[in-house]
Amino acid sequence: MSVLIKGVRLYGEGEAVDVLVDDGQIADIGAGLAAPDDAEVIEAAGQVLLPGFVDLHTHLREPGREDTETIESGSAAAALGGYTAVFAMANTSPVADTSVVTDHVWHRGQQVGLVDVHPVGAVTVGLRGEQLTEMALMAGSAGQVRMFSDDGKCVYDPLVMRRALEYATGLGVLIAQHAEEPRLTVDAVAHEGPTAARLGLAGWPRVAEESIVARDALLARDAGARVHICHASTAGTVELLKWAKQQGISVTAEVTPHHLLLDDSRLASYDGVNRVTPPLREASDAAALRQALADGVIDCVATDHAPHAEHEKCVEFAQARPGMLGLQTALSVVVETMVKPGLLSWRGVAAVMSENPARIVGLPDQGRPLEVGEPANLTVVDPDTSWTVAGGELASKSANTPFEAMVLPATVTATLLRGTITALDGKPVRTDTR
Ligand code: DOR
Ligand code: ZN
Repeated sequence: MSVLIKGVRLYGEGEAVDVLVDDGQIADIGAGLAAPDDAEVIEAAGQVLLPGFVDLHTHLREPGREDTETIESGSAAAALGGYTAVFAMANTSPVADTSVVTDHVWHRGQQVGLVDVHPVGAVTVGLRGEQLTEMALMAGSAGQVRMFSDDGKCVYDPLVMRRALEYATGLGVLIAQHAEEPRLTVDAVAHEGPTAARLGLAGWPRVAEESIVARDALLARDAGARVHICHASTAGTVELLKWAKQQGISVTAEVTPHHLLLDDSRLASYDGVNRVTPPLREASDAAALRQALADGVIDCVATDHAPHAEHEKCVEFAQARPGMLGLQTALSVVVETMVKPGLLSWRGVAAVMSENPARIVGLPDQGRPLEVGEPANLTVVDPDTSWTVAGGELASKSANTPFEAMVLPATVTATLLRGTITALDGKPVRTDTR
């Protein structure tokens, strides 16, 4: 089956064109293309065509917490958010520290067929930070694990981290670090600053993140390795990334939509929906993160989509589980924080949400140019609409969005994975042909 996308502007630039998709690829690009008999036509006049988004940081909760998210429900959220590939973090139950678990995640994602679900393998057995996992077995198995992370926990032991980086370099895989020095965050629930002090919440200092970022940059330098920093959250981390990149160290970093838009002034309500790891920082940190994303000091946006049940969020702030939904709101938050203020063009959005993450993790068929012959992993965005976020209406099995009731700009109107429509007009599309 073929698909004709009519009237789109590639990267939001130039004249509107039609894009014909056939056999999983972009078959033709031009004005006034005729629709083949079997073609599904997407009327997208005035809309923007981008390469499908790639999320390096998603929690899909399967196996173990299928009451809060499954690979199926998370895949639907991803497709609706414009994603064609997501990386599912390893902090499941059981932990994804063997190929049995990582292969399950991969196969289940392919079965659902809405988005490529790439399993992330744990760096250490049970996320305990002590013994390295069999990374080579996971990398060489069906799920072809190409990213390893203990996310949720930090690989805090410098010797273990050093060995992990050395081992990963030999395998050509990526280590993604959740930068949190655990000795500095005992009992911490909120960013350490005037707000937490006023509210009586135990503070999480910036240095807990920054000390690990600095250490890991140096470890990567010495090992000739590369390291990826998850969810950068402070202005100091931005400075360290800038320094490390200037030194030629292979460090990359992601920022979440919630750290771009929100700050700790939100905590005054004591609503557990605002608890997240790392915590929402100060407005000056958010501004530094936005500038760093615009400048390329931070390479990409990753959602840290972290579904939690109502009984885990609607509790006293300090008891609430950290984490926020992100897959269906990411693009709109990036438009609000980056495109509207003129910090990023649509081509820039393609870079930070698709091309850069695909490159960082080495996905050959994602983040490709919008050209004839390229794989048709595509996202169509209506830039001129806005919508009101309602957690209960998202595809996720959980509803813990911090953007509840906010009016956000831009909607994803269609997503195509290898030429097959996976989301259209706000609904996931599953077909039997896959
Ligand atoms: O807020 C967070 N939630 N940060 C993490 O690092 C882990 C995640 C989760 O798994 O809920
Ligand atoms: Zn994390």
